[in-house]
Amino acid sequence: MCGIVGYVGSSLAAPILLDGLRRLEYRGYDSAGLAIHDGKQIEILRTVGKLGRLSEALRAHPLQGTVGIGHTRWATHGRPNEVNAHPHVAGGVAVVHNGIIENHLALRHELESDGVKLLSDTDTEIAAHLVNRALSNGCSTLFEAVRHALRQIQGAYAIAVVCASEPGVIVVARNASPLVIGLGDDANLCGSDIPALLDHTRNMVFLDDGELAEIRAKQVRIETVDGRVVQRPPKHIDWNPMMAEKGGFKHFMLKEIHEQPRAVEDTLRGRVNLAAGDVAGEEIGLSAEVARSITRVYFVACGTSYHATIAGRYWIEQLARVPAVVEMASEVRYRDPVFTPTDLVVAVSQSGETADTLAAVKAARAQGAKVLAVANVLDSAIPRLADASLYTHAGPEIGVASTKCFTAQLAALLMLAVYLGRRRESLTEERARQVLQALIEIPNQMRTLLGQAPYLLGIAKRFVNATDVLYLGRGLGFPIALEGALKLKEISYIHAEGYAAGEMKHGPIALIDENVPVAVVCPRDSLYEKVISNVQEVRAREGRIFAVATSGDSAIAELAEHLFLLPEVREEVLPLLTVVPFQLLAYHVADYKGTDVDQPRNLAKTVTVE
Ligand code: F6R
Repeated sequence: MCGIVGYVGSSLAAPILLDGLRRLEYRGYDSAGLAIHDGKQIEILRTVGKLGRLSEALRAHPLQGTVGIGHTRWATHGRPNEVNAHPHVAGGVAVVHNGIIENHLALRHELESDGVKLLSDTDTEIAAHLVNRALSNGCSTLFEAVRHALRQIQGAYAIAVVCASEPGVIVVARNASPLVIGLGDDANLCGSDIPALLDHTRNMVFLDDGELAEIRAKQVRIETVDGRVVQRPPKHIDWNPMMAEKGGFKHFMLKEIHEQPRAVEDTLRGRVNLAAGDVAGEEIGLSAEVARSITRVYFVACGTSYHATIAGRYWIEQLARVPAVVEMASEVRYRDPVFTPTDLVVAVSQSGETADTLAAVKAARAQGAKVLAVANVLDSAIPRLADASLYTHAGPEIGVASTKCFTAQLAALLMLAVYLGRRRESLTEERARQVLQALIEIPNQMRTLLGQAPYLLGIAKRFVNATDVLYLGRGLGFPIALEGALKLKEISYIHAEGYAAGEMKHGPIALIDENVPVAVVCPRDSLYEKVISNVQEVRAREGRIFAVATSGDSAIAELAEHLFLLPEVREEVLPLLTVVPFQLLAYHVADYKGTDVDQPRNLAKTVTVE
């Protein structure tokens, strides 16, 4: 996820901005840049790679002003290169931006037909041109020009803007992406995150959605886009820098579990067309012709991403009615598999760099199959090799155990299934609309579940001394049983197995006694009765059950020792909710055990070796 820092005061801005950006480095980025106003004009410096490169460039070409904005970019639209790095410039205006402008394609066409020549592939450059056009068309201040531009922009943004004709001013705005203003003595600052400002002030004002602010060295003015004046007292932040990086959470993993509503929202943003009951084709990159001509969807992935593909397979079969198979990439690469030119190979990888998945993609391409990458890191190796890419927009994931990337992958795969189903006419507009509506409601339902997180603390205590845990689920609950078990074993080092509940009596039932906790994915879906029978079999052997179930289910309440309840939702979207309590359970068990939650032993975030 990108980082923003801004400074208006009497000291040299560039070193302050660079330090602020360094405080955000832990989040990951691929390029960085500064725009400094020296009182007469704005100078821009942008470099690809780490901040050391920007620092070197600054030494070679010092920037003298006392007002400026800085940015670290984590690419979402356009490759990570210098042209796409922020700040983006139009006329005398320079803009840095976090988030995704949903209607960027329509705005791009509109600006181009107005004679504007866009230099980058980014949505941010569009914002710079909108502000510049508003100034040229008579807006008398930068503040009004930004307000005018925001009225045309849909989507998520935190932006900071400076303009040559108004030295001493930064204008910031936010919608669905955080933006905080830091109040100093003779200087004011702004940033996307608290750590960027902590060296200078602990008094901070948080912008709300739909607000913009004009920041001067000794004055800050906040209004809503609609023109209402906002008076908001600052908050005193007493976090230490480590706490600030983790947003006040104890570990990155916990922070990332709580970021899932936003990760899913950003992955859906600009892609779902509810009115048409459809998903935007240009975001998926597969033509309608390809969607109709494929005869099989072949998923390849590893680990948590592999679990997402199992749900993907169920969705593709149910909604698009295409035969679908799922295979671990490490098996595909050495199995001499058979692919055909009418296969669509869907390679799912949060890092986009996993060696086994990359090798499976190469094998598929060599036999002429089409490849679609579902990845979280723009322009990583797997998307570069693929015919098309569908990016998840979860932002950088720092905890080694994947959480928000998993739910973002689920959202992407469900959209893919709807897209294929609509092109192949196996899915009615009405059902597609219902599924998409349910998907759009997921982020808020996740927020409600996360609000109940403390309830899992007590349950986690009961798991801490277990040596083995069995996870069971059927249908769309099966990949969640696998993922729940993987999360627990990865970070708590407790042995855990995920099984298809129907497979239990073919072996694992022998394990069950009063010492083996059994975690069951048991929402009220079409396989509910079947899962309940399995739960009864566990109970009959004194097994202790933790069930994730639907609110109001009295049958499971009688069988389970511990329950975590979900709202009633459409079956198709259930995995995006059922996984959340299992992630939290694993987290709290590991935290009680005192393991290194964010960097569990023997594991790496990106596995670029076999
Ligand atoms: C588990 C986890 C790993 C990854 C796997 C694949 O929490 O993160 O199992 O899912 O190594 O990685 P990607 O998705 O980057 O291909």
